[in-house]
Amino acid sequence: MGRDTFYITTAIPYVNDVPHIGHAYEGVATDFVARYHRQRGEEIFHVTGTDEHGLNNQRAAEAHGMSPQDWVDSMAPKWREVWGRLDISYDDFIRTTEPRHEAVVKKLLTAVHDNGTDDIYLGSYEGLYCVSCEAYYTEDELKDGLCPIHERPVELAKEENYFFRLSAYTDRLLAHYDAHPSAIEPSSRRNEVLSVIRGGLQDFSISRTSFDWGVPLPWDETHVCYVWFDALANYITAAGYGDDPERFAQLWPANIHMIGKDIVRFHAIYWPAMLMAAGLEPPTQVWAHGFINVGGKKMSKTNATSIHPFELLDRFGTDSYRYYFMREIRFGEDGNFSWESMVDRHNADLANGLGNLASRVLAMVESYFDGVLPAPVVEGAESDLPAVTADALRRYDEHMLAIQLQPALGAVWDIVARANAYLVEKQPWKLAKDPANAGELAAVLYAAAETLRILAVAIHPIMPAAAASLWSQLGQPGSVADAHLPAAGAWGGLEPGARTTKGESLFPRVEHEAQ
Ligand code: MSP
Repeated sequence: MGRDTFYITTAIPYVNDVPHIGHAYEGVATDFVARYHRQRGEEIFHVTGTDEHGLNNQRAAEAHGMSPQDWVDSMAPKWREVWGRLDISYDDFIRTTEPRHEAVVKKLLTAVHDNGTDDIYLGSYEGLYCVSCEAYYTEDELKDGLCPIHERPVELAKEENYFFRLSAYTDRLLAHYDAHPSAIEPSSRRNEVLSVIRGGLQDFSISRTSFDWGVPLPWDETHVCYVWFDALANYITAAGYGDDPERFAQLWPANIHMIGKDIVRFHAIYWPAMLMAAGLEPPTQVWAHGFINVGGKKMSKTNATSIHPFELLDRFGTDSYRYYFMREIRFGEDGNFSWESMVDRHNADLANGLGNLASRVLAMVESYFDGVLPAPVVEGAESDLPAVTADALRRYDEHMLAIQLQPALGAVWDIVARANAYLVEKQPWKLAKDPANAGELAAVLYAAAETLRILAVAIHPIMPAAAASLWSQLGQPGSVADAHLPAAGAWGGLEPGARTTKGESLFPRVEHEAQ
């Protein structure tokens, strides 16, 4: 763990239900970014977890006739299981009910409480509360009298609460965002946040007495900590705030908090202010992605549009799943899932695109050269593939560092398209008919196989299993995970003489089905 460790997090979902493809979207996007940075040889700390306190979770437990602790203990593994099937390479998984986290919540509360400015005070509050958001709304924030996010009724709630003096942070937040133009992405979200801050901030309550499923306040145990205050602190728990100052100094501030657009105000207003109040730095960047809709609508249990990731994983496999969502939807905007588009994308880009390229090249090396990669004798086989791959990898890198995940994959698939076209132009299957063309045939197949090697490295962050399989089919030593960019993307890394094997098809076609 060095000073340059890239620290990236996801939001931690409530465990009042099982995951759907919207939650998984965030998990996959974050993992794609984390793995890309690892592929560049960087040290990464990737954290995810579950948000287990609060009324949301307590009510779900009651509905199932369970204690909150039994309920969250039964649910957390269901989330981890999905992250496992999605090949999410997290380094730490925080459950907010873990003692290490509860200790951090108390430590953070105490730091703010004791900061000498009365940033926490006792007051009373009456307001309209959305249980799903765990947040109060004013009348004019409601949409047709309903929560603007969940479109569900709000409840009139009245409590004596401890408050956090958010109103005192208006100027500091504005100064922070002024000095750090890319602290909130995309810029549409930044503008939203700035206009909320400029509109004036209200203090928010940080404790509850109406239920007890939470961390008791250290100075008044009759109150439990507000679930958002508790949940946001997970980011510093994982970094060692509780018990490892040296590690914390190396990891904090986090490089990226990846979140959905609905929880921007918590991350870009509450959280930085809470950190400032505790004498800590705000996160470097909050990145708010869009929502996955189904049939053009918000997913919901009531209209049966909530899709569990397993439904898709069983049919398409992990790599195709990961690829589809990142390639189909412009990251930062809302996107629609449909079975048709997923089948089409899978067949076009994976089965016919990359899969077909790999199987053709490996089959030809096997049948024309007995599975031993020929040396690239150059005559007659000048290829633009070295230039094409170099240019595409440069664009891939730029897009990935800017979290432009869709065009990043577009750049990699430019390589696939060019390599397939190269084979059509060179027609190695025709060259193979005349021994006089052996040199050219060798050069063409070397260029195609070297392109595949570069592709294996490039796709590893998005399709780890396919990348590993391709790497071993090309007879490459070691693990593709250790083939770091940019060096491993340079042309000529494939050693002639390598033993190739044509394995299972990387991406078997999927047929359309009546849904
Ligand atoms: N528990 C809070 C987060 C606390 S983070 C300190 C929460 N949980 S959640 O379960 O409601 O949402 C978890 C994440 O999933 C959020 O980033 C949210 O935006 C994201 N998504 C929930 N539904 C989604 C879609 N339909 N599409 C994409 N992301 C979605 O908020």
